[in-house]
Amino acid sequence: MSDEVRHYYAASSEKEWQRLTRAEGVIEFAVTTHFLAAHLPPRGRILDLGGGPGRYSQWLVERGYETVLADLSPALLAIAREKFGERALEIVEADARDLSRWADGSFDAVLSLGPMYHLPTVDDRERAARELARITRVGGVACVAWMPRYAFVRRIFANADEQHRLTREFMRPLLDSGSYTGHAPGRFTHAYGARPEDIEPFMSSHGFRMRALVACEGVASGIEQTLAPVAQHDPAGFGVALETIIETASDPALFGFASHLLYIGDRSA
Ligand SMILES: C[S@@+](CC[C@H](N)C(=O)[O-])C[C@H]1O[C@@H](n2cnc3c(N)ncnc32)[C@H](O)[C@@H]1O
Repeated sequence: MSDEVRHYYAASSEKEWQRLTRAEGVIEFAVTTHFLAAHLPPRGRILDLGGGPGRYSQWLVERGYETVLADLSPALLAIAREKFGERALEIVEADARDLSRWADGSFDAVLSLGPMYHLPTVDDRERAARELARITRVGGVACVAWMPRYAFVRRIFANADEQHRLTREFMRPLLDSGSYTGHAPGRFTHAYGARPEDIEPFMSSHGFRMRALVACEGVASGIEQTLAPVAQHDPAGFGVALETIIETASDPALFGFASHLLYIGDRSA
């Protein structure tokens, strides 16, 4: 599983670096950083776990946090080293399932914006959540990205080269357990699609108390590419669109149709 993730991101590292600055990702980035700013402690040491090439790490550094960027993918970490050097932040290769290099309570907050949906087995997600809880100090904050199950159903419907998987044999495990099977070299890896209503109980069973659950693309899910260009020719209108997306982002009616969900919780025990 780890090798599959490494290969996938090695082949798409430049795309991953660009992702959050392009039309498909600017709304996700704006909404996510809005909620991070609202919930992160004002200062402290923060781990950006599964931080890839480091766009969120960069945002953290700019806000004065002592930042550690960790990821499974050497190719993505190489981009981070090239873009940021290691003066502004510490950059390390690490697997979310084994964070033994860090002592209990090492971080005031942890962003885990990637690993959970790349872990298709419940055992691996349990290990990752146990490690997340262990390294977050009591009272600290965890921000965890999930992909909803229907995001995987929708990508199969939408992508011509995935439509051959419209079979009962493929759809059944996806609908029943969230297990998405990667199908071709270079395409998305084996993955996990969560049912939104399962996220809070799962995190709670690992000692987190939910503060927020947010649909990162909100009401703009699936239409980001037509909305994002509005920022160029009508910045004020785009601002109103973003305000609307943020104001409604915690409406459970949107959760299943988002591409990403952001869970934010306190480590309570
Ligand atoms: C879609 S990228 C997201 C990158 C960045 N956090 C963002 O939100 O733009 C998913 C990231 O999770 C990382 N990842 C997947 N499984 C991981 C694991 N078990 N441990 C650490 N990182 C992992 C990948 O290498 C990749 O960088």
